[in-house]
Amino acid sequence: MAESSDTPGSTAQVKTTGVTEAVVPADGVNGGEATGDQVTGGEVTGGEVTGGEITGGSKPPSVAGRSCPVDYRYNPADIAATPAKAANVLYVIGGLYGNSEALKTVLSLLRFEREPVTLCFNGDFNWFNVASDRFRQINTTVQQYDAIRGNVETGLAERGTLTDCGCAYPDFVDDAVVSRSNQIIGALHQTALQHSDLQDWMRGLPRYRRYEVAGHSVAIVHGDPEALAGWGLCQETLDEPESRESIARWLAGTNASVIACTHTCLPFLYCAQSGAVINNGASGMPNFRNSLSGLLSRISHSPPPQQLQAIYGARHDELYIDAIPIPYAHAAWISEFNEQWAADSPAHLSYFDRLMGAIDYTTTHAVRWLSTDAKSGRHLRP
Ligand SMILES: [Fe+2]
Repeated sequence: MAESSDTPGSTAQVKTTGVTEAVVPADGVNGGEATGDQVTGGEVTGGEVTGGEITGGSKPPSVAGRSCPVDYRYNPADIAATPAKAANVLYVIGGLYGNSEALKTVLSLLRFEREPVTLCFNGDFNWFNVASDRFRQINTTVQQYDAIRGNVETGLAERGTLTDCGCAYPDFVDDAVVSRSNQIIGALHQTALQHSDLQDWMRGLPRYRRYEVAGHSVAIVHGDPEALAGWGLCQETLDEPESRESIARWLAGTNASVIACTHTCLPFLYCAQSGAVINNGASGMPNFRNSLSGLLSRISHSPPPQQLQAIYGARHDELYIDAIPIPYAHAAWISEFNEQWAADSPAHLSYFDRLMGAIDYTTTHAVRWLSTDAKSGRHLRP
């Protein structure tokens, strides 16, 4: 899990180039510790980071939650060399964050599809599910499908003490947010320790996957093609030339037409000449202004059924790339969240407003691309 800047969104008509907007959430530091199934407030000090790490920004490497452990690192060539699994319809579901209602809704969407769907949970499917039964239910359901581990699962698989969320937060994320993320992972880890079989499973999950859809290679990562918790595919820096150069290099290096990612909590679809990047934001939290739905990425040789109500999408040759809303039972999920996280808990302080729809990010922010050349086959569908 990586909490990005809280931004807004809507299901309004998609236009062309988006505008970067970053709003760091208001906060107040409060500790938290696990007490049974609900987490309450309390003083918790920051964790410590062990050696062998790479900093995510200019913050000192000793700050927990700011660093990227060496074993989070890999190369685009590693992804390109991974055997591809064939799929006609691929759902990429990142950032479920323990939302059981969103998980139920994702599975219910399958009835609208005309052919079998391959589901890939690309990390951070755990976060708010600190209650032992909820923890088990989320993970045993995800176990039935393809998955890769996010920084959350990588941390939860640790057998020893865990005090670092592994989010590799960049500088634009406030220290208090980072501190609370470390507290949340600490509480969740206490739950994970009660489920050693699930820890073993998480530890064995790959860090990336590759699929072949409509003759195109699709790379699935959690953060970016160089790091499990990398921020190289966050919307905040997407308009910077360096980011676009990185994307061009990563598309070439992974030999993929599409890279699907998550981790940074805000969605976007970016289309370049050589391919596309789609970040689904969060499948388990609201993503856009005036919407309480989660979001998944659908990549297929066929356009999405009308019932899925795709918010925006692009076509790359014969490949359809779409953002699909997940209209989960909001009241039921909020009730479940409140049963697990008290009002003064770190998760409540950091995320409750967003869970209630307080986000100022729109589809105009989310849709980015370099070219609108319809002749190239890379364009937004009307
Ligand atoms: Fe993450």
